Amino acid sequence: MKDNIRLDKFLADMSVGTRSQVKTIIGKGRIKVNGTVVKDSSFKIDTAKDSVVLDEKKIYYKSYEYYMLNKPAGVISATIDEAQKTVLELITEKSRKDLFPVGRLDKDTEGLLLITNNGELSHRLLSPGMHVDKTYYVETDKAIDKSGVYNLENGIDIGEDKLTMPARLKILSTGNKNAYLLTICEGKFHQVKRMFQAAGANVIYLKRLSMGKLKLDEKLKPGEYRPLTEEEIKSLTDSCN
Ligand code: URA
Repeated sequence: MKDNIRLDKFLADMSVGTRSQVKTIIGKGRIKVNGTVVKDSSFKIDTAKDSVVLDEKKIYYKSYEYYMLNKPAGVISATIDEAQKTVLELITEKSRKDLFPVGRLDKDTEGLLLITNNGELSHRLLSPGMHVDKTYYVETDKAIDKSGVYNLENGIDIGEDKLTMPARLKILSTGNKNAYLLTICEGKFHQVKRMFQAAGANVIYLKRLSMGKLKLDEKLKPGEYRPLTEEEIKSLTDSCN
């Protein structure tokens, strides 16, 4: 019976209006449930079976939504903020109002950010015990020397109680451009920047490419997003198993 919810909640969840606005809409007889006008806001809807129609337009209920955002630099990983633009403001075509970013990327970091309202999945993806891999493309102001590479890969002191956990480092180029791929399974505050700094270089550009089995869609330009496919949702769930 857990799929049964009140009609006003159904409509408010799907952003038809606020709870009081949808009560007015219902009271005016604009809602039909399975073909019959319903004026009672507390009427129980089976979200899996019942057809809810507002002024001839069918409203489909979504318990969860999942979006992949290519976060641009300059926006913060938050839901609302008085002064700064947030990642949630970039998700313009959403049904649910309870979406949030899964974890944080720094304001100047770009790349893969999952936006959902699935709190349980988010909790599992971010849980330190799950060791979900995150891969970052990193550019630095200078090349990392051999001992820096060793320490990045085997554990480096970033001022926490313990060294970082082993990470995978791939050197893409050194010289004019110092570029690396770093895969870590932790998510400490500013972790990648602090790791490179401890290894002797400053990060000048940072972009997340993947989280668990979810990879950033290369077709998404910074600031663009799309819903996850069913396969991607499943792969994310598998990332925490
Ligand atoms: N590590 C950082 O330093 N910054 C990020 O945004 C993500 C990981």
